[in-house]
Amino acid sequence: MRASIAALAGLGLFAAPAAFAEPQPGVSEGEAIYQARCNMCHGTGMGGAPLMEKLKTLEPTDVVAKMTSGTMAPMSAGISPENLRDIAVYVTNKPLAADGDLPAVEPK
Ligand code: HEC
Repeated sequence: MRASIAALAGLGLFAAPAAFAEPQPGVSEGEAIYQARCNMCHGTGMGGAPLMEKLKTLEPTDVVAKMTSGTMAPMSAGISPENLRDIAVYVTNKPLAADGDLPAVEPK
């Protein structure tokens, strides 16, 4: 009995993260970059930065534009075009269609 509970717990621990991570590697990467590069302002409202609730109301294409040619371009320097799209899907929780060589990104 004890052993089978441990086996079930083990399955939960090791199977679940893989099941979540595999279909949407893009948006998970976007989340990690957001936490490292954007959350210090957008998580706190520092300097008047809009919070996640506001960012969620935007379209992902607008967020990409803000990061490529808008006021967030300096904050986004060095981030690949793929990862900019991953971040935009993460903050808006809306999908982005494939664009040329760039793959479609689905929210979690
Ligand atoms: C140093 C603080 C700071 C950092 C870091 C930062 N932002 Fe911002 N962001 C702001 C402020 C302040 C505004 C509001 C003024 C403006 O729109 O330029 C803003 C505005 C925005 C907007 C427009 C919101 C709207 O309502 O139109 C988006 C989208 C955005 N940021 C995304 C990002 C992303 C993605 C990152 C990380 C790559 C990021 N920001 C990093 C401070 C920051």
